[in-house]
Amino acid sequence: MSQFHIAIDGPAGSGKSTISALVAENLQFIHIDTGAMYRAVTLAAIEKNIDLADESAYVFLETTDIKYVNDAIYLDGNDVSNLIRSDQVTSNVSQVSAHPYVRHKMVDIQRNAAKGEKVVMDGRDIGTVVLPNADVKIFLTADVLERAKRRYGEYLRKGRIERMDDVIEEIRVRDHKDSTRKESPLRKADDAIVLDTTYLTIDEVVMKIIDIVKKEHGYGL
Ligand code: CDP
Repeated sequence: MSQFHIAIDGPAGSGKSTISALVAENLQFIHIDTGAMYRAVTLAAIEKNIDLADESAYVFLETTDIKYVNDAIYLDGNDVSNLIRSDQVTSNVSQVSAHPYVRHKMVDIQRNAAKGEKVVMDGRDIGTVVLPNADVKIFLTADVLERAKRRYGEYLRKGRIERMDDVIEEIRVRDHKDSTRKESPLRKADDAIVLDTTYLTIDEVVMKIIDIVKKEHGYGL
């Protein structure tokens, strides 16, 4: 089989990126974290000091190179994997990713990267817009408190001290913005399989997805 597409969507903190990376590693697929791409655009826009609300100011994307390779994100050839996780990027990314022009640019890059490849792609609109014909579509959910706890733990591991209430608020605000925007909002595709990860470990979710791929599609059997 030359091309096989697995789309994994879900809200902030549902574990998408970690789980997608592990599923890809297990199946020896490419992994593309589309959230990292929107974060890279946000970082570039902040560095260029443009008005983030002005869609026409994003024309700089015509001459900007954004690539996701081997679980690292590159902006014009520079690895910005750490810089894209800053507070400033996190609090502005939903505004940036709501611009249709920005989305069209990123969706083009994402579709080209997936063409002819075995790919696990994670994001908000992969099963609905980017890869509507994906072979397997998964929608990950988890209770908002559990998602906030996970994010809080990630911050702690990186030495960042945050108030739990602020983390819950950050997740709620981003969920709201991402699911109410006009252009391709966060939405479960009609044919996606929902996995509630609230009471599951990362490994349990990874195994469930691999089971779905193998049982329903015989991949690698
Ligand atoms: O923080 P988390 O890992 O949950 O989010 P992310 O996957 O890094 O995505 C960051 C932001 O990018 C989201 O909050 C969305 O605003 C935007 N995004 C999007 O609009 N469409 C995608 N396919 C992926 C991310």
